[in-house]
Amino acid sequence: MFYTLEEQIERKLGKVFDELGLDKKYAVIKNSDRPDLSDFQCNAALALAKIEKKNPRQIAENIAAKLSVDEDFEKISVDGPGFINLSLNNVFLAQNVDDICGDERCGCPCVDEKKTIVLDYGGPNVAKEMHVGHLRSGVIGESMRRIEKFVGNNVISDVHFGDWGTPIGMILAEVIAHDGNLDKMESYDIADITAFYKKANIRCKEDEKSKETARIITAKFQDGDDEYMKAWKHIRKVSVDAVKENYKELGVHFDLWLGESDAHKTCFEIKKIAEDKGLLEFDDGAYIIRLDEENKPKPPVIIEKSDGGFTYQATDLATIKMRVDDLSADEIIYFTDKRQQLHFEQVFEAAEKLGIALNTKLKHIGFGTVNGSDGKPFKTRDGGVMTLVDMIKMSKEKVAESMPKAGDESGFSAEEIEKLVNQVTIGAIKFQDLKNNIASGYIFDLEDFANFEGKTGPYIQYAVARINSIMRKNPDIKMEKIVVSNIEERNLMLKIAQFGNVIFRAEQEKEPSIISDYAYNLAQSFSVFYNASSIKDADSAEIAGSRLKLAKLTKDVLTKALFLLGIETPEVMPKA
Ligand code: ARG
Repeated sequence: MFYTLEEQIERKLGKVFDELGLDKKYAVIKNSDRPDLSDFQCNAALALAKIEKKNPRQIAENIAAKLSVDEDFEKISVDGPGFINLSLNNVFLAQNVDDICGDERCGCPCVDEKKTIVLDYGGPNVAKEMHVGHLRSGVIGESMRRIEKFVGNNVISDVHFGDWGTPIGMILAEVIAHDGNLDKMESYDIADITAFYKKANIRCKEDEKSKETARIITAKFQDGDDEYMKAWKHIRKVSVDAVKENYKELGVHFDLWLGESDAHKTCFEIKKIAEDKGLLEFDDGAYIIRLDEENKPKPPVIIEKSDGGFTYQATDLATIKMRVDDLSADEIIYFTDKRQQLHFEQVFEAAEKLGIALNTKLKHIGFGTVNGSDGKPFKTRDGGVMTLVDMIKMSKEKVAESMPKAGDESGFSAEEIEKLVNQVTIGAIKFQDLKNNIASGYIFDLEDFANFEGKTGPYIQYAVARINSIMRKNPDIKMEKIVVSNIEERNLMLKIAQFGNVIFRAEQEKEPSIISDYAYNLAQSFSVFYNASSIKDADSAEIAGSRLKLAKLTKDVLTKALFLLGIETPEVMPKA
């Protein structure tokens, strides 16, 4: 069993708390607010003072006195109203970091209780090219998938494809209007189908009759009409293939490619449960479930529209039931644009009333929009919707500008450069997205996002490639047990030892930006360490070997952190 450095210190504190009869739940530490004075601090005495009705300084002194017999601490002091400041002994710190070297999880423990977590992200729709708005859901979702898996949970990710309802009826109606029938359907590719859908959208907006035709066709196809079903299957297939291509390029993976269509049958069950529980109301031609309006007005959930079609909300309720019954989900987490917040509030409340997810936690994580430099949603130069494909292409062109050219003195081949451009571009796009906390939107900055300086993906990728190069350049130095010989090494070690806790915080808060912050700080600490600590000219072979080992460990931790963000690390980079 591996304990993180923080856990070990908290266990030591806990023992002292037991001896003093203090409530152990306060035996927690945090990184010091004054790293110039101490490594960690414990603020327990302030909370305990109220419970124990004693002076906080006195409580802190008692704890400090007992703790100071432990030689693993170099210095313990009580400061201010009762903060306990703790600094570690160098031998203890170095030993801890040395232990991490042998651990393939870089010192990160696993969760005590493994949960089954269904992650719902991506959410693309048939016949619609993915646009920049789909970027965040995929990028954040993929990172959370990796984080949850890494801490030991059983993770199932589902794309929840929008492949049902009115859009399909509209496309079919448009094709029929164009060809007179659906005979040519299977010869249409994604571009054709997208074009039909665009036309259908305009037509249905302008003309009530076309809208009615599409509605009738939708109802007929959802009832299982053979010809329409065959056409739908084709539309779905070409759409899924196109979307899969996009996600492959972005390195976003899904365990399940289920869609709204898969929930159709269960929608009838949802309606039945609502009816049996006396929750279903017939209102203005539609079947609805009313929600409590105690705290704020909330529109009812519409289960079935007046034309007999199930709604987006009904589909989500049915999908919850399936994920609980078939996948035994302990938690279901959705990643969508913030604007869907009300939808999920309604769905979760209805799920509770229906009793379909009694022991399953439902959570919606809403993110902000990707904006252009004008602060408005990111658009093409002529004001159109920026497709994901175009955005990636544009970004690659930008990244390619700073890459060597094939055949120049750098020695990179054309294939190597292409691979590098892909890795750096996707790394830059993802890091730019994941360095912000999820709820806030951000400006997609084509000038800065791939900069090798500053808080960017390529900066960290570069740090890793540089360490690879350091390792290659010192083949004769043998790695030795890690020791502290200067302050820069010590600071780097303290950072490395935080890895496990950082991952757990990111998992609990569902916030990958905690990891991106950490990776950036770690890369910076490495840079400071490396500028101050020569490996080749170290005072002894032991110190040289320790430094090389520390460098390698930094690389492993950075690589893992980037992996958890969904970012690849090139082995070599130009000028590294
Ligand atoms: N397809 C939906 C959209 O484009 C997103 C789906 C999100 N997931 C869900 N279970 N509702 O808005």
